[in-house]
Amino acid sequence: MLKEKTDVFGRVTDIDVLNLKSLAARAKPMIGPGEYGYISEGSDDGYTMARNTTAFEDVHMLPRVLRGVESPNQQIEFMGSKLSSPLLTAPIAGNTLAHSSGEIGLAKGAKEAGIMMSQSTFASKTIAETAEISGGAPYMFQLYMPKDWAYCQYLLDEARQANASAIILTADSTLGGYRELDVINHYHLHGRIANLEGYNTGQKGVGAGGLFKESMQNLDLALIDKLAAYSKLPIIIKGIQTPEDANAAIEAGAAGIYVSNHGGRQLDGAPGSIEVLPTIAQVVDHRVPIIFDGGVQRGTHVLKALALGADLIGVGRPFSYGLALGGWQGVRNVAEQLKSEINIAMQLTGCQTIADVKKMTCTNSFKI
Ligand code: LAC
Repeated sequence: MLKEKTDVFGRVTDIDVLNLKSLAARAKPMIGPGEYGYISEGSDDGYTMARNTTAFEDVHMLPRVLRGVESPNQQIEFMGSKLSSPLLTAPIAGNTLAHSSGEIGLAKGAKEAGIMMSQSTFASKTIAETAEISGGAPYMFQLYMPKDWAYCQYLLDEARQANASAIILTADSTLGGYRELDVINHYHLHGRIANLEGYNTGQKGVGAGGLFKESMQNLDLALIDKLAAYSKLPIIIKGIQTPEDANAAIEAGAAGIYVSNHGGRQLDGAPGSIEVLPTIAQVVDHRVPIIFDGGVQRGTHVLKALALGADLIGVGRPFSYGLALGGWQGVRNVAEQLKSEINIAMQLTGCQTIADVKKMTCTNSFKI
């Protein structure tokens, strides 16, 4: 049952979240068909997108008892930011596709929930507009490396100005995956690509293909130093799926590793993101923090990813659906639902703190 609190557009502003997986169907009627297709689908056959969630079934937590656990504490500190829970709004382009408030709603929802927010280069609000609402709340900026170095400098300057705690360099998306719903719906990203406008490239309403054309394809390890030297910010590499790449990125100066397959939107046929996490964590060996995303829909998924080596857990589409259903309150509600599931799972696994979760034994059958 929805609580009938509505905003000026008649949208429900405070949503009852039963669970994250039921949000897509509820949000679908609130979002245009082209926009919904763009947000919701995976590439090719959607195998990797589906596998991201189903692979969690192959991880089992071994619960401990009689450990005196009461009122578990899920707070953490991540790269200098104090968070109420190890959660991140994973970067997603064009949030006005889900709700008119776009990244402003996302930032406010994340701030109210006390979790980390990240903003895409391809956001529908500028970095400055988003920073104004988040007012120093934990924030990271996701960079699609522009071909134009002056534009890149502009983005990095804006991110520093907005107090970004890190730059997340996207490494897995040097072009867009093949997404058939976009073809069927003749869908191109509409609306503002605010940061492009801010730089005055004159690009408006470009499709995803147009966006990727603006971005550099031949990314290499030397970029890490270049970006760190200019921005003076930690550089986290997003889209790492092998231990070799994790190691190479760290040796090249990466301050963090972001294990992700882009929500199954890029290379279909990659394993579920959780399947590659254990060997990557082994190689990283606590040299730098690890962010993880891919298919997270439950508090238990968060615990499993933490136990297998992640430090911060990104959630993408469910926040878009929460935003669609209830603006910033919807985003907060989604975060609070996950936090409540995390709390139950911590109590039932005998974990008082997130440090305990990281020490929990988790079995898995992954051969990667
Ligand atoms: C996408 C890019 C823009 O997945 O992140 O569509």
